[in-house]
Amino acid sequence: MCGIVGYMGHQNSNQILLDGLKDLEYRGYDSAGIALLEDGKINVFKAVGKIKNLEDKINNSTFDTKNSTFSIGIGHTRWATHGKPTELNAHPHSGAYSYVVHNGIIENYKEIKAELETHGHKFVSQTDTEVIVHLFEFYFNQIKDAAKAFKQTIQRLEGAYSILLITKSEPNKIFFMKHGSPLAVAYGNNTGEILFASSDSPLIGLASNVVYLEDGVYGIASTNGLIFSQDVKWDILPNSKQFAQKDGFRFFMEKEIYEQQDVVTDSMLGRIADKQINFDELDDTLMDGINEIRICACGTSYHAGLTASYLFERLSKIRCSIEIASEFRYKDPLLTKDTLFIVISQSGETADTLEALKMAKNAGLKTIVVCNVDNSSMTRIAHSTILTRAGIEKGVASTKAFSTQTVVLWMMALYFAKIRKTITDDKLQEEIRILREVPNSLKVENEVHEKCRRLSKRYLHGHGFFFIGRDVFFPLALEGALKLKEISYLHAEGYPAGEMKHGPIALADPELFTIALMPQHLHYEKIKSNVEELSARDSTICAISPLRFDLADDFINTKKTDHYMLEFFEMLVVLQLLSMEISVRLGNDVDMPRNLAKSVTVE
Ligand code: M6R
Repeated sequence: MCGIVGYMGHQNSNQILLDGLKDLEYRGYDSAGIALLEDGKINVFKAVGKIKNLEDKINNSTFDTKNSTFSIGIGHTRWATHGKPTELNAHPHSGAYSYVVHNGIIENYKEIKAELETHGHKFVSQTDTEVIVHLFEFYFNQIKDAAKAFKQTIQRLEGAYSILLITKSEPNKIFFMKHGSPLAVAYGNNTGEILFASSDSPLIGLASNVVYLEDGVYGIASTNGLIFSQDVKWDILPNSKQFAQKDGFRFFMEKEIYEQQDVVTDSMLGRIADKQINFDELDDTLMDGINEIRICACGTSYHAGLTASYLFERLSKIRCSIEIASEFRYKDPLLTKDTLFIVISQSGETADTLEALKMAKNAGLKTIVVCNVDNSSMTRIAHSTILTRAGIEKGVASTKAFSTQTVVLWMMALYFAKIRKTITDDKLQEEIRILREVPNSLKVENEVHEKCRRLSKRYLHGHGFFFIGRDVFFPLALEGALKLKEISYLHAEGYPAGEMKHGPIALADPELFTIALMPQHLHYEKIKSNVEELSARDSTICAISPLRFDLADDFINTKKTDHYMLEFFEMLVVLQLLSMEISVRLGNDVDMPRNLAKSVTVE
């Protein structure tokens, strides 16, 4: 969690750091800060809330970097883990000699703090991060050498972290370390420039080549260039930020909903050819000796995985289970080598999913990650990576990541079915035909968007929402409820429709809103009975279906298609739009909902 940036060079470093932090704001926005070292003088600015608050604070100060010839700076946007979001707890943290920004968690900070307190160190914040500058001070006082003091400091730290540290004693250097949390470094396009960021988006346009640091790598950036503790691999940076702009939409989330038809097409490119499903990323022998698939993920990615578990069993005829990564990790799971282990993650950095992947790999299982971010931690660990090609997803509420994950997983189910000979050629051709129709089902129709906008007025109050569905429409119901919760802050639950009568139906009254997913091509009569039961008990019903349902208080008419998976994507768009419009009506921040961050790199 959190985002860090660093810069040294001849440009206005203040603005470069602020722009970089804005790119990373989706990782956390409880507070932000920067430290700039110019001509031996250090300026620190911190503000609670979004980067804009920090920018205003700097603009309202007398500070001016425009005339400086060379400067060094580090910046941070925070998602609080230890200590409240206050200026005191915001980064950079400062000690007698150094300033630090940190992404991740120092697990042994209490022990270090207690030890340093016996040596007279006084701590002012509630954070784990502050121990870094005190440790540095402790060692620097003994050896008077910044590089050695930094090395001794990082050797004491346990946990997952990336760090940038600047010192007063050697003001032309940035010390850095990566262990468990992402950190990238690049030479800038202008002479003498070096840039750091916890993901590559702040570097795009400012540099051409990048090093995504491996765990355990540390080093020094100075006017002489970069020194690394071990050999590193240079990669080419993407050169376009166009994905990261809103393209005239009100929110990134809205843009990303509208983009789904295109990115899903991209995710199929080259993978459907010659009337077959191909995954060049997968080995032909992958399924040899495999009797079971186990999936692990969190949040929306978990919902894509749950959807896939139906498809793997239905199409590939292989036993498939799915678990929430944070539960999986601590249940002493039985891992046998006849299991193919699949993790799903938009970011590739989610701490719990990453750990689950490491556990499976260490147990000798074959592992695959379905991921949207190349060069992310998970892609570097898994045996195989299937990229979802959704482009940068900025909205905290995941949308296009889910649709691309689901399509890719569906294609994998067909690929495995073919290898395992559990699908006839005719059936495969039929599924491919349907897959090709998915972009059309994801296309946002004006009338549907307008209907969601109008309905959002009605569904603002009440004591809760139940999203109900059966089969793959159950995970879709979970996803609809999660979308609503995270951006509207209204209570919502996703439930298997047939399970309502085993308890939740007791809640039914006009103030209970039921969002019913009623596909024509999968158990229509069954879901219809479940909704009738709720309607008979006065729950307010909003039915989403291609078929008119007279008992519904409100009805969102999706296009008629000839397959339940196409209905799935038609309904997905409705759920995304409905939650977005409710959030807008409530005046919430759609792209950066409270208490959340885009990438959850703490457990
Ligand atoms: O990057 P990941 O897919 O691993 O992230 C998992 C969840 O944190 C994520 O899906 C989260 O639930 C989203 N905010 C949902 O919209």
